[in-house]
Amino acid sequence: MRDYSIAVIPGDGTGPEVINEALKVLSVVSTKFGFKYRTEQFNLGGDRYLETGETLTDADLERLKVHSAILLGAIGHPNVKPGILEKGILLKLRFSLDQYINLRPVKLYRADFCPLKDKTPEDIDFVVIRENSEGLYKGLGEFQNKDTPEEVALQISHNTRAGVERCLRYAFEYCQRRNKHKKLTLCGKTNVLTFAWDLWQRTFEALAKEYPDVTTDYAHVDATTMWFVKNPEWFDVIVTDNMFGDIITDLGAMIQGGMGIAAGGNINPQGLSMFEPIGGSAPKYTGKGVINPLAAICAMGMMLENLGEAEAAGAIEAAVINLVNEKLQSLEAGKMGFSTSEIGDMVAAAVA
Ligand code: IPM
Ligand code: MN
Repeated sequence: MRDYSIAVIPGDGTGPEVINEALKVLSVVSTKFGFKYRTEQFNLGGDRYLETGETLTDADLERLKVHSAILLGAIGHPNVKPGILEKGILLKLRFSLDQYINLRPVKLYRADFCPLKDKTPEDIDFVVIRENSEGLYKGLGEFQNKDTPEEVALQISHNTRAGVERCLRYAFEYCQRRNKHKKLTLCGKTNVLTFAWDLWQRTFEALAKEYPDVTTDYAHVDATTMWFVKNPEWFDVIVTDNMFGDIITDLGAMIQGGMGIAAGGNINPQGLSMFEPIGGSAPKYTGKGVINPLAAICAMGMMLENLGEAEAAGAIEAAVINLVNEKLQSLEAGKMGFSTSEIGDMVAAAVA
């Protein structure tokens, strides 16, 4: 029997609440689709940091590595200075586990939850593949003459041929597998950032020859944000670097209906991958039972897809689409017409 072991990191803020609902649905789909799983919970996040000063330790990492996948709620705590938990936990997980792809499907499930006029689910259905291990996130740089009027802060985007190539190759192959329009758009800034984007573009053009069935296209990142709003139907699969990917995927989340529904995967195609709702820890909603758990449920669905449980993943998505269209008043926290756990119950019931 298929058997998975899932590392669960509920994390901070509303993370534990949404993870509960995702686990509720997981339990039902495992019975329905005939696989087994175990979970191990990991205490990572702001509370542990405030108590012990620890973020993600080497011992945590070793324990994580025995699992088949990681499901993460949220990292971010109002009493911890920005940067500590992000770098010490989330980015450390991505880097140490070499999750070099950040996969962000942008799919609108219901037209009237879209802030764009006249856009329908047919128009908004694309995937952003964000490089997840290099670029500006590498953290290279320095201060010169700190705290003087001549101060200079350098923040360097570090792009390697191998790093760019493995990301682009994943994007070409993902585009083939998705088999929708087979169109891959490189999103960059070749007109200004002429080192990094020259490397990206040369590598993209070289690889394109190996995938003749994939149509290639290029868009500057600034124009990409414009087209997300004006003509999102132009996109099928977009590949971009870490920083641009971070920015455009928040815009992507908004046009698909908001953070309440946006899920992402941090993928190591050869190793351990991690799935998360991208909305963050939402401290002001914590403990109120009003946060939308659908993003976490969709992230869990992506996890199952990645583990090879495509049928179960499809059933979860179908249940979510149905619920969003038939029952919910909104995807936003507190406005859905149901509590966090009622939404989890309804998805679980629909899947069962
Ligand atoms: C994301 C988040 C993270 C990022 C933060 C929390 C470090 O914004 O997953 O997009 O910048 O990658
Ligand atoms: Mn982000």
